[in-house]
Amino acid sequence: MYAKDQFNEAENLNPSQNPHIQDLFSIRLSRRQTLKGGIGLSTGVLFSSLGLTACGASSDDTALKLGFSAVAKNKNDKVTLPEGYQMSILHALGDAMQLGDAPWADNGSETADSYNRRIGDGHDGMYYFGLGEDGKFQVNRSDRGLLCVNHEYVVSPFGLHPSGRTAGASRVTSEVEKEIYAHGISVVEVKRESSGTSMSMVRGSPYNRRITSATRMDLSGPAKGNALLKTKYSTDGTRTRGTNNNCANGYTPWGTYLTCEENFTNVISRSDDDALRTAKEKTALARYGMSKGRKSPYLWDTAGTDDLFARWNTAITGASSSEDYRNVFNTFGWVVEIDPFRPDSTPVKRTALGRMAHEGAWPAPAVKGQPIVLYTGDDSRNEYIYKYVSNKLWDDADINGGLAAGAKYLDEGKLYAAKFNADGTGQWIELTINNDQIRTYGAYTFADQADVLVHARLAADALGATKMDRPEWGAVNPLNNEVYMSLTNNSNRIDPTATPTGNQLKPDAANPRYYDDGEGNKGNPNGHIIRWKETGSQSATAFTWDIYLFGAENDASATVNLSGLTDVNDFSSPDGLYFDPRGMLWIQTDDGAYTDVTNCMMLAAVPGQVGDGSKDVIAAGGTKTIVGAKVTADTVRRFLVGPVECEITGIAVTPDGKTMFCNVQHPGEDASLTALSSHWPDSQTNASSTKRPRSATMVITRTDGSLIGL
Ligand code: FEO
Ligand code: CA
Ligand code: CA
Repeated sequence: MYAKDQFNEAENLNPSQNPHIQDLFSIRLSRRQTLKGGIGLSTGVLFSSLGLTACGASSDDTALKLGFSAVAKNKNDKVTLPEGYQMSILHALGDAMQLGDAPWADNGSETADSYNRRIGDGHDGMYYFGLGEDGKFQVNRSDRGLLCVNHEYVVSPFGLHPSGRTAGASRVTSEVEKEIYAHGISVVEVKRESSGTSMSMVRGSPYNRRITSATRMDLSGPAKGNALLKTKYSTDGTRTRGTNNNCANGYTPWGTYLTCEENFTNVISRSDDDALRTAKEKTALARYGMSKGRKSPYLWDTAGTDDLFARWNTAITGASSSEDYRNVFNTFGWVVEIDPFRPDSTPVKRTALGRMAHEGAWPAPAVKGQPIVLYTGDDSRNEYIYKYVSNKLWDDADINGGLAAGAKYLDEGKLYAAKFNADGTGQWIELTINNDQIRTYGAYTFADQADVLVHARLAADALGATKMDRPEWGAVNPLNNEVYMSLTNNSNRIDPTATPTGNQLKPDAANPRYYDDGEGNKGNPNGHIIRWKETGSQSATAFTWDIYLFGAENDASATVNLSGLTDVNDFSSPDGLYFDPRGMLWIQTDDGAYTDVTNCMMLAAVPGQVGDGSKDVIAAGGTKTIVGAKVTADTVRRFLVGPVECEITGIAVTPDGKTMFCNVQHPGEDASLTALSSHWPDSQTNASSTKRPRSATMVITRTDGSLIGL
């Protein structure tokens, strides 16, 4: 999520009155195994351990220790790393991926078309896939791989244009074309350098590929072919073009990348068409933030009459949905599957995972003979957490099965929304047309299961799921399968003694804090990380939960700083989450509340488990909650601080634990091209730089080549 408020309109849309209240298989190692062998030695185990169940944490597992000196909070225009660590830039906005294009010129002169072969803007979620000599997914390979990176959006101050974004009611055609191609995903081959553990991009690799907001996509799963998805481009509702606002990500055990469409409302406009819309359509459009007459912030639809531009408006201009783009809005908000190993493959939007402002889609470790389980969240204020369980059971013969395996596991399954009870229990409630609460829902009449999935928010409203403080990233602990999810912040939580208006909500046990930080931020300005343990198998419909970690400034009151953060680990607005193969948790921030003191950051953590803390804790505002064990400098520690006005988002670690990729998004976002506030990444090595700021992927290694974090 980008921090700028004008782009966050869609975060305040849940008016329903509900109660308030690796990594694939890789990680089938117990912490003990990991510690004995080191992650390097464990790589042979990784592949053979496919399908084994996790050993779980045992009493001697506490030896996983953070082994670096905490980085101090700061506002420098550079990335600060612990002593003994180094970084380089893998790629930044506008870098040429293929041979034949000129390098980034730092003046916006790159052509629109060249962005089909250049790195996009707004680096966000990413994943590293080991690449074998046979061109196939090799899960334990660390010296050569394919790195998939999301390019979430075109970042202010619009350094990809010569003079920023040209103002006006109608956009300049060439600028919009460039923006359309600068969104999406990049896939690049990465290779270790001849000595050391750093990596660089293989320019011109046949695997290098851009997927943009104009790339052809297939629609698949229960909503494929539904009337709600028919457009002039695909009159049978089986295809669309482009993926947009790709925020966080996921990955599959068969070796494909999942990219998740979040703030797609930002590129689609709606005319004042109430007279032409059914009551149902109006309800659905409003629930997804597309109010009557709404102009998108990017105004792509104003750049010309060509279909490339006109389709970004939902206007009803034809006799049927086959003659216009009235339904284009429904073709976004999906989890999209990409096969990085087959550059010619067509990405697929998997409708079984529901339509929402998807942050990401995070898998639990795959277990042979068990369903594939993915977790996903809807990043808007007061939205829900979801879980997908495949109908088909995992068979590791499907590794390297590409999009055919994707169809097997991701087109047929059950989608659930989470309900968090005040007593620390919870339920997953299925979004199915067969549920009476959905079938008889008063606010919206669902036609069929496709309608339920296209309008998953409305279905979850009907089920009384729990409205959360903006679900951002999730991650599954490889050591015990517990699931973590960031709830980044929520200005719509109000004093429990006040009367809610509009979309305001009182705190509940799972979103318990209400306070005023004294600096203009109210509600839950610093966010928290919730976690849960499924009852029995990963596909269970019951769970127990607690709150692992509360963001806070270290000098905040005890009812705000419930996790006991100190100077070495205080933070605000958790966003990116990632468990590396050893079970070390990485926490990234996208903050606007503590930025008077520090730029956004990344912390490393060794978490405990659900229930290791205290019940009946009173949070700021007076609501009772359940808190995990207080943290110490040994269990949570600041690893990195980013440059000016950035967000740290997106992380991947090679299977051997020696190379980390980490993204910096929107450095200098509050400035203009004529008065820049950041010159990162150039400022990393040149304190007097005058260059434009660019989103970028960093490669972080230890100078001695050893394991990161330990
Ligand atoms: Fe694009 Fe929710 O962050
Ligand atoms: Ca995010
Ligand atoms: Ca502050």
